[in-house]
Parts: sequence; C-alpha cells; structure tokens
Amino acid sequence: TKSFKVVLIPGDGIGPEVVAQAVRVLNVIDSSSPEIRLQLESHDFGGIAIDNHGDPLPDSTLKACKEADAVLLGAVGGPKWGVGKVRPEQGLLKLRKELGLYANIRPASFASDSLLANSPLKESVAKGVDFVCVRELIGGLYFGERKEQGSEPQPEAAWDTMIYSVEEVQRITRVAAQIALTTTPPMAVHSIDKANVLASSRLWRKVVTETITKEYPTLQLDHQLVDSAAMILVSNPRKLNGVIVTENMFGDILSDEASVIPGSLGLLPSASLAGAPVVSDAKDFKPCFGLYEPIHGSAPDIAGQGIANPIGTILSVALMLRYSFGLEKQAKAIEEAVRKALDSKEQGGLELRTKDLGGNVRTEQIGEQVVNILKTLL
Ligand code: NAD
Ligand code: IPM
Ligand code: MN
Repeated sequence: TKSFKVVLIPGDGIGPEVVAQAVRVLNVIDSSSPEIRLQLESHDFGGIAIDNHGDPLPDSTLKACKEADAVLLGAVGGPKWGVGKVRPEQGLLKLRKELGLYANIRPASFASDSLLANSPLKESVAKGVDFVCVRELIGGLYFGERKEQGSEPQPEAAWDTMIYSVEEVQRITRVAAQIALTTTPPMAVHSIDKANVLASSRLWRKVVTETITKEYPTLQLDHQLVDSAAMILVSNPRKLNGVIVTENMFGDILSDEASVIPGSLGLLPSASLAGAPVVSDAKDFKPCFGLYEPIHGSAPDIAGQGIANPIGTILSVALMLRYSFGLEKQAKAIEEAVRKALDSKEQGGLELRTKDLGGNVRTEQIGEQVVNILKTLL
C-alpha cells in the first residue's frame, strides 16, 4: 500500500466550502482504492492565518506543504484584509515561489456537453472548445521589482517590473511542449505575448520559438498578441484549441476569461507544478509534487451561503491524482463522475446547477451527487 500525504489549506471565503466537497471525493478514492492510503491534514493559510498567526503563510503551514506529496488549496483573500500591508494574497505568492511551482496548468473545456446550454456564447461558437492554458507562475510582473516612491498614504509613483530570463521562458516552454505531446496527434502550441511593445515579450517569443524549433521540431507553434487573443477567446475560441503558453499575468487574465466559455469561473481546476508532468498509470510514472486549486478566488459576495460551485475544486483533485499520484484511472473516474453529475436531473427535470450556472442546487448537493456516482465507477 502506498501512502500519500495531502495538506489541505482551505483558506478564506468559499475556500472551505468547496474544499469540503473535494475532501469527500478524496475520501471515496481512499476507501475504494486498497493500493493507496491518503492522509489528509488541514492548515491555516491566507486571511484566517493572518487572524490566527499574524502571517498569511505561517512557518508551520509552509513546512507541512513542503513535506506533503500534494497540497489542495481553496482560495484566499477577502474584504476583511483588503489591500493593507499584510495581505492573504502575499502568502499565496510566497507559497508558489517557495515550492518552485513555475508551471500553472489550467485546462479549459466542457466538463460535460450539457454545459453548452449554460455558456453565454452561442453553441456554434463554444462547442468543441478544448485547450490547456500553461501559465508561467513565479516570474514576470508578479515577482519583478515592485516599489512605491514617496511617503504613505499617498506615494508619488509606484512601479512593477515585468522581467523574464531565458531560462524561465525555456522551462515553461518545455512544460507546454510536454503537455502538447500527451495526445496523438500532438496539440498545437499557441504562445501569447505582447511582443509589439514589451521587451520581455520579445525575449519570450524568441526563446519559445528557439526551444520548440530545437527540442520539439514536430510541434506546431504559433504566436498571438494578447489583446487580439482575448478577442479570439470569446469570438472563435476553437482557434486556440491545444496548449496556450503565456506569462504570469496574461495567463491569470485569460484563464478567468476562458471560464466564461463553459459558463462559470467555478468550473475550472488548476495544477501548479515544479516541472513537466508525466501522465501514466504505469511503472514509468514519476510523481510530481503539486499544489491544486480551482482558478477562482474566495468569492466574498457568496461566501457562507453554501451556494458556491465546487466543480473546479473537485476537478483539481482529479489533476492531483493524475500528476502527483499516478492514479490516471481514478482521475478519469472523477472526471466521469463530474460529467454524469452535471448530466443528471433533479425532480422536475432540471439539470444539477449551482446559482452561478442559473440553478438553485447547493454546494453540498453537487458534492453528494459526484460522490455517489464516483462510488459506482470505482
Ligand atoms: P473571485 O474569483 O473570488 O470571484 C469573482 C466572481 O465569480 C464573483 O462574483 C464570485 O461570486 C464568482 N465565483 C467565483 N468562484 C465561484 C464559485 N466556485 N461558485 C460560484 N461563483 C463563483 O474573484 P474576486 O471577487 O475578484 O476576488 C475575491 C478575492 O479572492 C480577492 O481577495 C482575490 O485576491 C482573491 N482571489 C484568490 C485566488 C486564490 O486564492 N487562488 C484567486 C483569485 C482571487
Ligand atoms: C489566481 C489568483 C492569484 C493570482 C492572486 C490571488 C494572487 O488570481 O490564482 O488566479 O493572481 O495568481
Ligand atoms: Mn486569477
């Protein structure tokens, strides 16, 4: 029996509500897979950690994450902590950096075709959209020099620096390429930048081109400027099917935009990894440490009401099993259970939908349905 340690950092707002449903899924995996054992432990992180320890990322939480096989995060932040000196979000950036999680993988597709009816896009535009956004996560504007000049509370100027080294661009390009190669035929790679203005983007474009040409010559690569990419994403999104690779902030913005296609920010999962994942159920699997989280935030506007959509977090668990534990069969079962849950009907003939998707089904009911279906699949 293989034992995996999973650290849970539910965080703030709807974080604990969606993580609770993902934990039910982890418990089903644990009890129905005799070959593995999952050990779960929870730690304070984000705003709640500021309240309890004066620090969004207490040393004890960081240490537990470093010793874990995988981490599951809900979300951090909220109006209570505002944009003050000590912010929950600083803990998240520090955690990503400390763990070297440079590759943020955000798949955007339809968890079920029954969601097509929930998309604000026409079915003819949205149908068949299927891409993976590979977002660089520990460089760029988020980690370049940041300064406020002058005195509080009103500095005279402030700046953030977008900086990328050749090596940082090379390694994220390799992750995108490896993911592109997981399908037959391989997926196209779309690199997104602002090379018509930014020096960092010109370096990005040059290094992506060189890396793909030299190391992955069979892959199809194109470049797109970020402003028009944002337009294409909602006018002809299938054009971007494949792997999108982009710098930190462009990826942050475009992935939230991408969530509009299947219908809600609450649907999309993510994996933050320290290298290229190996997808396999077999002996050649190399476990990859990862932090898994839905792409959405703490949603203060709906927190505490039990109405948040837990699908993005549940699908993040599937990514955890795939990338960190090599349990491809169980990962697929979770995705299948989510699909079937979204296709199932309540009394009255309505599909199971939380409020973000126009329904009135509660967070817990979605979790319940996914878990019940999952039990029949394992
Ligand atoms: P948000 O993602 O929290 O919410 C945006 C909108 O989407 C809100 O209307 C919200 O109700 C809705 N929404 C988000 N997730 C949902 C879900 N699972 N189910 C149903 N509806 C959902 O973004 P925001 O409002 O800009 O930010 C709120 C806080 O979250 C901020 O403090 C921000 O810094 C933080 N944040 C944290 C993370 C993270 O922890 N990884 C990510 C994004 C934002
Ligand atoms: C995300 C969030 C974070 C980011 C914030 C909370 C720091 O928006 O995970 O997408 O910008 O990376
Ligand atoms: Mn974001």
